[in-house]
Amino acid sequence: MTDYHIPVLLTQSVDALNIVEDGIYVDVTYGAGSHSRKILNKLGTNGKLIAFDQDQDSIENLTKDERLIFVDANFRYLENYLDYLELPMVDGILADLGVSSHQLDEASRGFSYRFDADLDMRMNQEIEMSAADILNNYSEVALIEIFSKYGEVRNAKTLAKRILLERKKNINWTSSYLNQVLSAIRIGNENKYFAQVYQALRIEVNEEMKVLEELLVAGKKRLKVGGRFSVISYHSIEDRIVKNFFKTGSVDAKIEKDDYGNIYRPFKIINKQVITADEKELKDNSRAKSGKLRIAEKK
Ligand SMILES: C[S@@+](CC[C@H](N)C(=O)[O-])C[C@H]1O[C@@H](n2cnc3c(N)ncnc32)[C@H](O)[C@@H]1O
Repeated sequence: MTDYHIPVLLTQSVDALNIVEDGIYVDVTYGAGSHSRKILNKLGTNGKLIAFDQDQDSIENLTKDERLIFVDANFRYLENYLDYLELPMVDGILADLGVSSHQLDEASRGFSYRFDADLDMRMNQEIEMSAADILNNYSEVALIEIFSKYGEVRNAKTLAKRILLERKKNINWTSSYLNQVLSAIRIGNENKYFAQVYQALRIEVNEEMKVLEELLVAGKKRLKVGGRFSVISYHSIEDRIVKNFFKTGSVDAKIEKDDYGNIYRPFKIINKQVITADEKELKDNSRAKSGKLRIAEKK
């Protein structure tokens, strides 16, 4: 399963949950299942683990274990499924955000500039909008926004204009075609530029920032007092969303106040400094480089 995905910050993120043997935990990003298996190892016979993954391919990695309930859906539906399973409150939620190595390395999924494929990039292959749809339909302003915000593409305006010109030719957006366009206008290192553009499209296709906010809001409602959030993010915007949410309990970082005007903080922050991979992990897994772990406990 390491071919599918090598786990990042495995021990630190699972230890962060302070697992109690008969507790109920949620791993909202199952992937190859490494974090889930580590949680199961710490659970007793009466414990439960609910695992989400919206990518059907992750089902091939399922571990046979009666304590595991797998949900092949977007984690934005966390509350619906907890209600359905009659397990309304949980002891911990782990999220290891973003894409798996499998998604990046499977040419046909269209996530990577390294292979020729249709520009798909949907983690859940049942949703409607692909990256090609974004290139064909988004306005110039919307394209500029996603390239600059999610990819930090320095010449986002030039890129957006160029895409509008290209789409008049009624082309089929494959990665090779997009790469040719990008090569002609890139600034700086080619691979880095491609990676920034592809990342921006992927985040937009899968609404990654929006679903993260929804998950945090749902988790705040569904974590028991003393229950923990353990979140690994790989993008500076994601990390900022998590950090501000843990600090304030709200997605717009608005401080809550009680009836007497006292500041109310729904979470105790467990690690003031973000946790990152140590040298050994970085040597074994380059993907761990951008991983940032934040832990918070529900008050
Ligand atoms: C970084 S990988 C997780 C890897 C896993 N922790 C492991 O070590 O094997 C992220 C996984 O979460 C899934 N995922 C990402 N966003 C999701 C969402 N909003 N809902 C459900 N699954 C999601 C992806 O399909 C992918 O398999």
